[in-house]
Amino acid sequence: LADGPLRGRRVLVTSGPTHEPIDPVRYIANRSSGAQGAAIAGALAALGAEVVFVTGPATVPPPEGVAVVRVETAQEMLVAVQGALPADAAIFAAAVADWRVAGPSDRKIKKRAGGAPALEFAENPDILATVSAMDEGRPALVIGFAAETCDVLGNATAKRARKGCDWILANDVSAGTGIMGGTENAVTLVTADGVEDWPRMGKREVARKLADRIAQALA
Ligand code: C5P
Repeated sequence: LADGPLRGRRVLVTSGPTHEPIDPVRYIANRSSGAQGAAIAGALAALGAEVVFVTGPATVPPPEGVAVVRVETAQEMLVAVQGALPADAAIFAAAVADWRVAGPSDRKIKKRAGGAPALEFAENPDILATVSAMDEGRPALVIGFAAETCDVLGNATAKRARKGCDWILANDVSAGTGIMGGTENAVTLVTADGVEDWPRMGKREVARKLADRIAQALA
């Protein structure tokens, strides 16, 4: 482990998309690359933290120096997160699917003449809200993300209250910003103390800035 202000601290980071199966060969996913989560995990490890990195099937590889737990679905991610606690801080950077397919088929769904299958959905557990609401063993600092396409600040502030987390890092992922799947991010940090707009910068710089803030908060 690196030496630094987070030496002796245990931190959990979720990252990447989730894959929700339709049948054994098909799934529903989203465009998250896992870049921001990987950068955050790497920046925390560089400050000396012991990092558990719970990741869905991301396109960006996990950083060096973290304990990697690989999952596919939201339900698996919740179980992995609960198994990784306790932690001093938890950062939920994963783009968890809001819905899974209810009753995925255990055989490949066949193409049939004259009709497409209708999929039914079930709601996935909200991992961030579940951990934020823990009575016992809640991490001292719980951080969520808000990827919004409009009224970033209003939605992020409401989300912080609804989820019960301590900080929200909000970003605008509208088409044209190039943020989702890109290398840059422009975030707004919402805490109990107020709101901070960070200038557009590389995802690694966002990660370093956030890791520094986490180290200050836990000191
Ligand atoms: O509600 P929304 O998906 O916009 O919230 C985003 C935040 O909540 C992110 O931090 C994400 O990792 C987390 N989340 C979660 N479990 C879900 C949905 C979102 O942990 N099922």
